[in-house]
Amino acid sequence: MKLRTLFCSTLICSLAVVAGQAKGGASSTDSSSDIPHLRKQGTATQLIVDGKPFLALAYELGNDSATSVEYMKPVWPKIVEAKVNTVLAGVSWAQIEPQEGKFDFSELDGIIRDARSHHLRLALLWFATWKNGQSSYPPGWVKKDFERFPRAQIVGGTWPVFGGEAGQARVALAGSRSIELLSPLGEATRDADARAFAALMRHVKEVDGRQHTVVMIQVENEVGMQGDTRDRSPAANKAFEGPVPKELMDYLQQHKDTLIPVLRKVWEAAGFKTSGTWEEVFGKGRPAEEIFMAWHFARYVGRVVEAGKAEYPIPMFSNCPQSGFGTAPAPVRGGQSGGPMPDAMDVWRAGAPLIDIFGIDVYGFDFEMMLARFSQSGNPVWIPETVGGLEGAARILYALGRYDAIGFSPMAGGIDRRLTPDYDLISGYDLATQLTPLILEHQGKGTMTAILMQPKDTPQKVPLGNYTLQVAFVRPRGERRGEPAPEPPTLAGAIFIATGPDEYYAAGFGVSVAFSPNTPGLPYAGLDTVEEGVFADGRWVPGRRLAGDETIEGDCLQLQWPRKGETPSLQSRLSREGIQHVTLYRYR
Ligand code: DGJ
Repeated sequence: MKLRTLFCSTLICSLAVVAGQAKGGASSTDSSSDIPHLRKQGTATQLIVDGKPFLALAYELGNDSATSVEYMKPVWPKIVEAKVNTVLAGVSWAQIEPQEGKFDFSELDGIIRDARSHHLRLALLWFATWKNGQSSYPPGWVKKDFERFPRAQIVGGTWPVFGGEAGQARVALAGSRSIELLSPLGEATRDADARAFAALMRHVKEVDGRQHTVVMIQVENEVGMQGDTRDRSPAANKAFEGPVPKELMDYLQQHKDTLIPVLRKVWEAAGFKTSGTWEEVFGKGRPAEEIFMAWHFARYVGRVVEAGKAEYPIPMFSNCPQSGFGTAPAPVRGGQSGGPMPDAMDVWRAGAPLIDIFGIDVYGFDFEMMLARFSQSGNPVWIPETVGGLEGAARILYALGRYDAIGFSPMAGGIDRRLTPDYDLISGYDLATQLTPLILEHQGKGTMTAILMQPKDTPQKVPLGNYTLQVAFVRPRGERRGEPAPEPPTLAGAIFIATGPDEYYAAGFGVSVAFSPNTPGLPYAGLDTVEEGVFADGRWVPGRRLAGDETIEGDCLQLQWPRKGETPSLQSRLSREGIQHVTLYRYR
């Protein structure tokens, strides 16, 4: 009898502990460091989830997919199959606040619940005042009340018209018109957006403050001015003729030596004035107008972020597809003005200091250039939107290895729209998943790098650790052995991690890697051991031991392409043969 009571009481207390754990994460104390946050490791910034560094291997849904729990039901298994650990899902202002002050989170709750049950994390995208330089997501009570919530106006710009052959064209406008873009100078709009965002963050904290399914938030989407270089509404004109706000001037003076060079040059060209109108301080023309818009967009978004972080301060980011100020003379004929792009990063930092990351949307663009531009002045690299396929597989290795990226997320219309799995991308994700512990350990320490190569590229010298890696683009084997040439690949990619003075891991495809010493001592390097293999839960499991043909008789490593007709089994091939472990020796 006594024994049984003892057993029961122990059981009850341990259940309580587990419940506490489940409810409160690792420890029952719910200090803010438990919630998802960012942390520096050397020169890198890492996303910390449940107390541990986390790599967001993500995919973005179609814009409106997460507005319906039913629609998403058949999509979750697709996402799991894609080896994704994080999903970027849009939250529509109109859906959560259909009436002013009345909030409905029912669909969002279902999305969070279902993501959690598929062991997936979420980055929510707050589609509110702005989306792609327009305002299609505010609720009706905002859109219809254009007195209270003023629009931006354009003069002599261009605006899309629909119908006709081309379906959509841009026509030059005579005179001015209001556009489907809420003005960043609309304070009532700003406050309404901030209230709604605060309500959203308060709710996310309530339903997910312990489980941390939601790890990051994007505030608005590809903010910027379309159709003209700046808002030319009466309020905007008055502000543009007025002085540059002291806050911005103070920020520029305090950061004069570390400003993004393009912005610094604009300010310098007008004489580094410390006060005056926008044109007096930044000169006549497009940059001054873009900086003006950047300031007002940033101030607006800054208030929204402040309101949200006051409720639940998890990492918040913006996203932008542009590398810098537009070059077309003002007023512009297309493109967006004033968005959170590298050239305007200082202005956005001054106006929205609580934005943690300026995210990169990069599709066809020059991927390396965009990452180089956005990684200026310590901005962590995070790519909420890019391409999939084999190009995506190469790009993820590059972003993680070369720029210590926090994560990577193709969109390409949305994973939910794909009819067949993207095996090529899955292969890249499989490699990244296997390497995650090693990548997280080496981020920010100068012991890791990566490369992208196109067929036209000449071999590149990449110094890493005690050796210089000579990396060359490798044509698919088929071509070399008279086999029918497979589809010409466009982009090869590989990541390299120095794990010891004479030891490396290399992973990827389409390149060969030779080594030469770059420290004093014996002049030549040789391959001592080369293994291909896989990482299982962070532990190296060697497969074939390579030499002979596989290393061109000991000259170099070869990270091969998939042979023709191997897709969809590419995944298994790369996950099986895509990683090599090498130890080197030196001789004379
Ligand atoms: C970039 C936007 O950020 C996305 O939401 C989407 O509209 C794509 N363009 C196009 O699908």
